This record gives sequence, C-alpha cells and structure tokens, in this order.
Amino acid sequence: MDLYELMMKRRSVRAFKEQEIPESVIEQLIDVANYAPSGGNIQPISIILVRSVSGRRRLAEIVGDQPWVKNAPLSMVFCLDFHRIKKWAELCQTDFRGERAVNHFLIGYADLMAAAQNVVILCESLSLGSVYIGSILDEIDAARDFFEMPDYVLPLMVLSIGYPKSIPQRIPKLKKEHIVHHEKYRKTGDEEICRAFDEKYGPMDESIEKYLEKAFVEALEADKQESPKYLERVKKRMKQLDIRNSAQFLFQVRYPTKMMVRMNQRILQSIRNAGFKIF
Ligand SMILES: Cc1cc2nc3c(=O)[nH]c(=O)nc-3n(C[C@H](O)[C@H](O)[C@H](O)COP(=O)(O)O)c2cc1C
Repeated sequence: MDLYELMMKRRSVRAFKEQEIPESVIEQLIDVANYAPSGGNIQPISIILVRSVSGRRRLAEIVGDQPWVKNAPLSMVFCLDFHRIKKWAELCQTDFRGERAVNHFLIGYADLMAAAQNVVILCESLSLGSVYIGSILDEIDAARDFFEMPDYVLPLMVLSIGYPKSIPQRIPKLKKEHIVHHEKYRKTGDEEICRAFDEKYGPMDESIEKYLEKAFVEALEADKQESPKYLERVKKRMKQLDIRNSAQFLFQVRYPTKMMVRMNQRILQSIRNAGFKIF
C-alpha cells in the first residue's frame, strides 16, 4: 500500500489487543518522533513512555477515564520541555527564556505535534493503531505531579498505541473544496457553510447510534468497553436541550461553549504553575 492510501485509510483506534509492542518497534517510534522537523532544530520536547499497568491506569484517570488509555499497551506523553534547554543555556553562560516567549511556545507546540504525527504515521505502516488524547490539557497539574516533572515541562498531548482489536469505519470529513482556497481566501456564503456541514454529518433523524458514529464515536466506544452509560447520558442531554442539528450537538452537548471558555482559567493557571510567564 502506498503512503497516500495508508494515510487515507488511517482512523483513530480505541480498541486494543492485549499484545505487547516489541521493544525494537518502540525504538523506531521514538526515532521518528526524534527526527521530526523542529523549529530551529531546538527540539524542545520530551516523551514519557507509559507501559506499566499502574501508570496506564493513572494516566487514563487523569485524561478523564478514557478506557482506551488504560487498555493500550503503550501511551506516549508528549511534553513541551524548556527545562533541558534552559539548563543547557545556563551551563553555557547564556540565557534561554522560552517560558516567556510566545514564539518559542507556539513553535514548540508545533514541534511536539509534528513529532507525534510522525509516530501516528509509522504506527499505521506497522499495523499499529493510535489515538490522540488531547484531554490531558484539562489536567496538566495532575499529570505534571504524577510524572514528577520539573518546572518548564508541560505535558500537552498523549498518543495511546497498540495493535487494533477493531478499526472504526471511515469518518466523515468536509469535502476538500470547502477547506482549500486558491491564492486568496474565498469567503463562503451562509448556504454553502450549512451545506458543507450537513453533507459531512448527514441527517440527525436517523438512529442515534448511527449519528453518533459520525459525531461522537468516543461515547459509543466507551460504552462498549465499560459499563454502558454515555449513550444514555447523551440521549438525555440532547432531549433536555432540544438539540436539532449537528452544530447544536457539538457546541451544546459535546463541547458546551460556556464550559470551554470557563476552562481557560484552569489551563492558563496550569501553564503558569509550570513556570511559564507568557499568559
Ligand atoms: C488534537 C487532538 C485531540 C484529540 N483528543 C482525543 C481524546 O481526548 N480522546 C479521543 O478518544 N480521541 C481524541 N482525538 C481523536 C479525534 O477524536 C479523531 O481524530 C477524530 O474524531 C477524527 O477521527 P479519525 O482520527 O479517525 O479520522 C483527538 C484528536 C486530535 C487531533
């Protein structure tokens, strides 16, 4: 299979076999993360490998009880790491203040994601499945505490990895003409915007399970792997709020707008707690 086909068929995997990943494969995953592009080649990242049962269990709790994090034989915690660089600069009689520089922060986060995506692609080519876990952002303090991270280290992304027990079907995406602009930004009309998302998610009046496969596959998967509760909760909430379309579902049920904005203070405080002074 060529690389295009491989990348087009990739899906986030959340059901893993209890099969160890060989050491040599893990080494390769680390190599491709390490050889990813890096702004100025400064390499401000560290990766914590979590394989122990106790580590997996605790990490799963930290990220909001996502069962696949506990079940995956390997999770890689991608950290923005200015600790090592600051120390190096100091030992070399100079000063690195990435913790105060928005530029270093944003480029560092881009580096981190480039490294993680290299791992995702290599996983796919080795018949491993992977899923990003971004919800570590909600519990940065707890993660820093558990992994005993010094100042200037921020855990910002997790990849849970393992051999797939099952792979979900193709997920809907916007048609590419909606995301591509030629030479200048083309402002889209209201009707076109609605059509783009209607085509992506399909109608809501089909069975709720079918709809959630497209709009909230995590809830269905969590119900399969743990005692079923999410689907019922989601259905109840949708009824309570009289949800009529996909945008209402996403921004009232799945990512309630007020809650997302309220989380700012918590995330910013965690970043400050790690010694960063950019916000
Ligand atoms: C930045 C980022 C954060 C994500 N966080 C989570 C997460 O916390 N839990 C989870 O199960 N999936 C998470 N995902 C996976 C997305 O749900 C998934 O990529 C999306 O539904 C599209 O499906 P696909 O990866 O199969 O194409 C995340 C993906 C990205 C890129």
